[in-house]
Amino acid sequence: MNQAITPVRCNVVIFGGNGDLAIRKLLPALYHLERDGHICGNARIIGASRTDLGCEAYKKLVRAGFDEFIAANHWDESIWPAFSQRLDYIAVDAMDPASFVKLKAGLGVEFEAQDTVYYLSTAPQFFGPICENLAAAGLISPYSRVVLEKPIGKSLASSKVINDAVAKVFPENNIYRIDHYLGKETVQNLLAVRFANALFEPVWSNNHIDNVQITVSETVGCEGRWGYYDDSGALRDMVQNHLLQLLCLVAMGVPVSLEPEAVRAEKIKVLKSLKTMSPDEVRRNAVRAQYVAGNMAGGAVPGYKEEPGGQPQSSTETFVAIKAEVHNWRWRGVPFFLRTGKRLPSRFSEIVIQFKNVPHSIFPSASNLLPNKLVIRLQPEESIQLFMMNKIPGLSEGMPVMPVTLNLTMPDRFAEVRVPEAYERLILDVMRGNSTLFVHRDEVEAAWIWADAILDEWSVSTVEPHNYPAGSWGPQASFELTARDGRSWHESK
Ligand code: BG6
Repeated sequence: MNQAITPVRCNVVIFGGNGDLAIRKLLPALYHLERDGHICGNARIIGASRTDLGCEAYKKLVRAGFDEFIAANHWDESIWPAFSQRLDYIAVDAMDPASFVKLKAGLGVEFEAQDTVYYLSTAPQFFGPICENLAAAGLISPYSRVVLEKPIGKSLASSKVINDAVAKVFPENNIYRIDHYLGKETVQNLLAVRFANALFEPVWSNNHIDNVQITVSETVGCEGRWGYYDDSGALRDMVQNHLLQLLCLVAMGVPVSLEPEAVRAEKIKVLKSLKTMSPDEVRRNAVRAQYVAGNMAGGAVPGYKEEPGGQPQSSTETFVAIKAEVHNWRWRGVPFFLRTGKRLPSRFSEIVIQFKNVPHSIFPSASNLLPNKLVIRLQPEESIQLFMMNKIPGLSEGMPVMPVTLNLTMPDRFAEVRVPEAYERLILDVMRGNSTLFVHRDEVEAAWIWADAILDEWSVSTVEPHNYPAGSWGPQASFELTARDGRSWHESK
């Protein structure tokens, strides 16, 4: 199953190059790209941040990160010399134009005519100033691209300010807004399952689908970044971006091709069809909750407010369950239940497409006739399961049936293929100049319009978020949300 590789020659400058994301994810992704032969020539990888750090100290930091974050069976010591040769560090203060002149000198003149990716792994308030300073220092050419990490703003208004500032410098085609969920292998496979099989499209609508559920469940708390998280909350941190992007891939129509414009056009139609909730609907259809102390598999954990840095008066949500509606011909009447939370019992992300039941049962044991479900598991182990009814073998009278599953478990089927990390796919796509798996400004803004309606109501509500004990599946209200519609959350094994 060897796939042809066309290596790319593209420089990568990471702002926030010594930060957590860079060390944990971005640089290990670049290592894998190097190891698999995707990077060629004298392409350079440069860490940039305010810290006064020499090149050697940076290399040590990156290497320590590799030792920690690259699995031993994927580590190849012989790759390090070439990788380390590409690596450099330049101290740059995002707000100081003079330091960009230093950056330019460090990069050398040949940079101007080369493909270069500026990866902004910084707080969003620096996106505008960094772009402006790059332009002022003459560091932008038609071959330059910029990658923006989420969050892009905290609302529609603040996202517009950021997008406007970046747009003054980069044309939209050269702006890559990253949502790392789109780089996950199974998320892309969703496109393949839907559009490379004739089986699903005819039944992919309100004629045959009863409801859709998207769950991203995490066991972690706020991982030492209480301040950031508290300012954001689960709706901004997960739903406005990751869960809505998954929703788009489930709900979109067939794009005319896999070209970025074609895919985005279909996603934007979905986002624009999302029903903006009235305050009343927010109260009924959006559950927010915060975890209190409880027991996880590894032992007792503190509540959200007692985490390091926590404040007792916080009413930030760490759990959200929402009934969203897509008001178009295909989906009218089909609830999309979205759920995400921290400190839940297990880590998994799953999309459940629940079909309508048969219109009439001819089986005497009709009570156990369950509707078909297609369950697409994104992580931790990628799989696709189809729940179907099947006859129980044997001579019993009345033809008893029971639900069984058809299973496609990726690690079993593709045992010899290493599943690349989301960031590998996405960084390589930016280097190649392919923006299909990136988020257009119109998508970000349409998603904010929907999210703002919920956030606005929560910001004036006198009702505090529900509580749920760490290690539970969230508050009772989340179960009531589906039960009110005569549905229930799919129970994952
Ligand atoms: C990030 C959020 O975007 O996604 C984090 O900021 C969250 O709070 C993370 O933990 C989840 O990503 P993954 O790939 O581990 O599911």
